[in-house]
Amino acid sequence: MDTGLSGKHVMVTGASGGIGLEVTRQLLAEGARVTGTYNRSSQPLDSIKKKWAEHLEVVKVDQTSEDEVKLLFEQANRTFGRVEVLVANAAISPLEGKAIQDMSLEQWERTLRVNLTGTFLCSKYFFKNLEKFAGDSASLILVGSTAGFFGEAWHVDYSTSKAALHGMLMSLKNEIVHLAPKGRVNLVNPGWTMTPMAEEALTNKDMTRRILQTIPMRKTAVPKDIAGAILYLASDKLAGHVSGQTITVAGGMEGRVLFTPAEVEPNSD
Ligand SMILES: NC(=O)c1ccc[n+]([C@@H]2O[C@H](COP(=O)([O-])OP(=O)(O)OC[C@H]3O[C@@H](n4cnc5c(N)ncnc54)[C@H](OP(=O)(O)O)[C@@H]3O)[C@@H](O)[C@H]2O)c1
Repeated sequence: MDTGLSGKHVMVTGASGGIGLEVTRQLLAEGARVTGTYNRSSQPLDSIKKKWAEHLEVVKVDQTSEDEVKLLFEQANRTFGRVEVLVANAAISPLEGKAIQDMSLEQWERTLRVNLTGTFLCSKYFFKNLEKFAGDSASLILVGSTAGFFGEAWHVDYSTSKAALHGMLMSLKNEIVHLAPKGRVNLVNPGWTMTPMAEEALTNKDMTRRILQTIPMRKTAVPKDIAGAILYLASDKLAGHVSGQTITVAGGMEGRVLFTPAEVEPNSD
């Protein structure tokens, strides 16, 4: 199937992470030119950079810094021209769960700063790039989480940062068309996916059993499940009239198991 992604310039933030890496691989296989970012180590991207030297530009960026995000887009524009698609994928999820009464302001602000402010900054400079380089089409793909929809006890910082992307989606889909008449903004919400971010939970058998009780397909995702939805939304050929939508890739997930059977008692009134 022709996705029309060949030759397109796509930026993937967090390209060194589990989902970003797979998105980058699939985009390159479709013939796209990719600016892929990492924050701490480019190592996961090194082998694909060798194979796709002409088509992949790897850039270090801390997306909490406006200066770094500005420089990222300047470099991307110099290398491959107008960024036509942004996959705003980079985020953190603090490993250790904390009840809100024990969560430090520092943790709350850090998670919001990376996940929400970082996504704001990348989206801001993506739009500035659309303002600078005329073009009909453009696609912004935000990467949220089922935690933004179902919530996640002990992770109010993360779930709030992801829920806020809905507001961004609904606002920016109406702004992008003023810069690119066929511009689109969509949101992909992955559920539990085997990547470095979720590895600790998903290699814990008890935790995984609990998770699978909420998923009719009785399996968690792998990065290619999420990448498929992102590539669909990146493609004007496949999703050219799709904007303002959320695609949840979570095997039909219903929510959370809150208590073990021993912790609940049917009430009589
Ligand atoms: N895995 C899941 O179960 C799951 C579920 C729901 C939603 N998601 C969402 O899917 C997306 C990808 O997650 P993943 O599972 O692939 O996570 P991951 O493997 O931990 O990758 C996260 C990526 O974000 C980058 N990053 C972290 N802090 C950054 C910063 N300050 N500035 C720029 N980049 C930064 C990381 O770079 P470095 O490694 O170089 O620091 C890495 O490339 C995230 O938005 C996540 O919230 C994941």
